[in-house]
Amino acid sequence: MKNNLPIILAIDTSCDETSVAVVQGQKVLSNVVASQIDLHKQYGGVFPTVAKQAHKDNIEPTILAALKRSGFTKQEIDYLAVTRGPGLAPALEIGIQKTLELGKVWNIPVIPINHIEGHIISVLNQANSKTKKVEIIKPQLPALSVIASGGHTEFILMEKIGEYKKLGATLDDAAGECLDKVGRLLGLGYPAGPVVEKLAKNRDPKSHPFPLPMTTSKDYNMSFSGIKTHSRKAINKLEEADKLDKNTIADFCASLQYGVFRHIIYKLDKLLSENTVKEIWLGGGVAANQSLRKELRKIAKKFNLKFRTPYSKKLCGDNAAMIGLAAYYKTQAKKNFTAKSIDRKPHWSIENI
Ligand code: KG4
Ligand code: ZN
Repeated sequence: MKNNLPIILAIDTSCDETSVAVVQGQKVLSNVVASQIDLHKQYGGVFPTVAKQAHKDNIEPTILAALKRSGFTKQEIDYLAVTRGPGLAPALEIGIQKTLELGKVWNIPVIPINHIEGHIISVLNQANSKTKKVEIIKPQLPALSVIASGGHTEFILMEKIGEYKKLGATLDDAAGECLDKVGRLLGLGYPAGPVVEKLAKNRDPKSHPFPLPMTTSKDYNMSFSGIKTHSRKAINKLEEADKLDKNTIADFCASLQYGVFRHIIYKLDKLLSENTVKEIWLGGGVAANQSLRKELRKIAKKFNLKFRTPYSKKLCGDNAAMIGLAAYYKTQAKKNFTAKSIDRKPHWSIENI
């Protein structure tokens, strides 16, 4: 413990990134991400047994790198934190096993963290990337967190840090998953989300109109499978007509992105019209997308709300710093952590943490 702030080493192996971070209070000292993207590219998605082996291979060197970059030694670490779920079961296992092992050897407590809570909390770290100075954020609550990633698309209400209520979620694919799958049909590789954004820049989002799903449903749930089916049909048609050239693909990407985000915004608008919140937060891999950020800024302005999103792209995608930050808040709320064994929870709901 330095300056009364706990030093936490956090590990996330929920999907296809092995990540280890060291945080001190709300300050991120290191955040190392060993990506497996190149290994999974050939499958066009995450292959569980390959992910498990890669986590096994990467975890030791990633821990050493994160410690080294943080400037602290293992003797100075006060807590360990690990993602318990949701995520890929064989992948989660590796991180949990290793963290518990370290907890025993270093004789320090292990704090289990929900991955989605990590994405939510990631917006509270407003450390200046140049000066490394941390601004302590005191959010106005309740806040509505929009999580958009490869595995999740959810609206989560937060009255208090650590207490969450899911107001709506996708009933099938996640927004990032939809971009990835349609992108794959367009031959854009894996993950396609960032490529779709790049190609969509300055192209026409109205060139290939998409249906707006679930406009008659009264809830705040979403569904991206219709957008996927519509895309498949439209792409087949373009291919048959020999019209799927570079420019058409770029226009299609702009339209797809617009279609996916319009659905989120439509439901978010309904939610904000019917509920009172003070801030809107955006987290998860898709939060790196500038168009989505712009749309959320617009809606925040419309409802006169403060908008927050992670200051760096690295805090949007899967990373362990967000797990360390979530753990820091837990240390402030509860002083004793006694977990000796932690079972993985691949479908752990944010409402039951
Ligand atoms: O949060 P994340 O790293 O992993 C999960 O927990 O799922 O999110 C990964 C997802 C992928 O679907 C990827 O295509 C998408 O985030 N993504 C993007 C962008 N960067 C990553 N989607 C759209 N625009 C981006 N710039
Ligand atoms: Zn994630």
